[in-house]
Amino acid sequence: MQNLLALNWKMNKTPTEARAWAQELAGKLSPGPAELAVMAPAITLSTLAANLPAGVAFGGQDVSAHEAGAYTGEISAAMLKDVGATYAVVGHSERREYHGETDAAVAAKAKQAQLSGLIPIVCVGEGLDVRERGEHVAYTLAQLDGSLSGVGPDVVIAYEPVWAIGTGKTATADDAEELAAAIREALTTRYGSDADEIRVLYGGSVKPDNIASICAKPNVNGALVGGASLKVADVLGMNDAL
Ligand code: G3H
Repeated sequence: MQNLLALNWKMNKTPTEARAWAQELAGKLSPGPAELAVMAPAITLSTLAANLPAGVAFGGQDVSAHEAGAYTGEISAAMLKDVGATYAVVGHSERREYHGETDAAVAAKAKQAQLSGLIPIVCVGEGLDVRERGEHVAYTLAQLDGSLSGVGPDVVIAYEPVWAIGTGKTATADDAEELAAAIREALTTRYGSDADEIRVLYGGSVKPDNIASICAKPNVNGALVGGASLKVADVLGMNDAL
């Protein structure tokens, strides 16, 4: 399965900065075996569409659960699709924590994304307290189950232990594999052989010097990267390592 290197800029980069980043990438990228995709603030997506090198995909960091209408401030899946997006991240831990998104809300967003032909990147993962109680597998699988309710198999899953996000604390490659394997088994139970094509990513303090060992694990099919996605040099380093 082709690895996916999914970059999540979070709330960083103006459209002007996004253009400079995309043009720098276009000048320096040697396409490797991994698929590269940029998850950017919605206001930068048209700029990315015009400036990213061929073959580099992009997507939104969130999407509305509604098709259209009186939902001030929201971005619909059809809008993302119209500017050329391939993906939409749903259920990132920062959306769950700061915006109260439940598993049911995440599933509704993922379903709406699929209705418009986007591939949702569904994020799951435990906090430190859960990890310290040794309940991380059960917790994450329950979150996965709720977040995929009614969602079809054309999906990407990102396992992101919350305690490893932006903290410099990376889960070990074995930690990532433990959850990726459990997630894959749950996907097979849910989707049968269609699960064989679903990529399971790891996210949390991924950088050029640790991505290769994490993605070498049999059930890890790429990474969702925050901090190290902002500088083109780091992206090139990660792309070269895959
Ligand atoms: O979406 C990306 C994750 O939250 C990981 O962020 O690479 O800055 O730890 P990070």
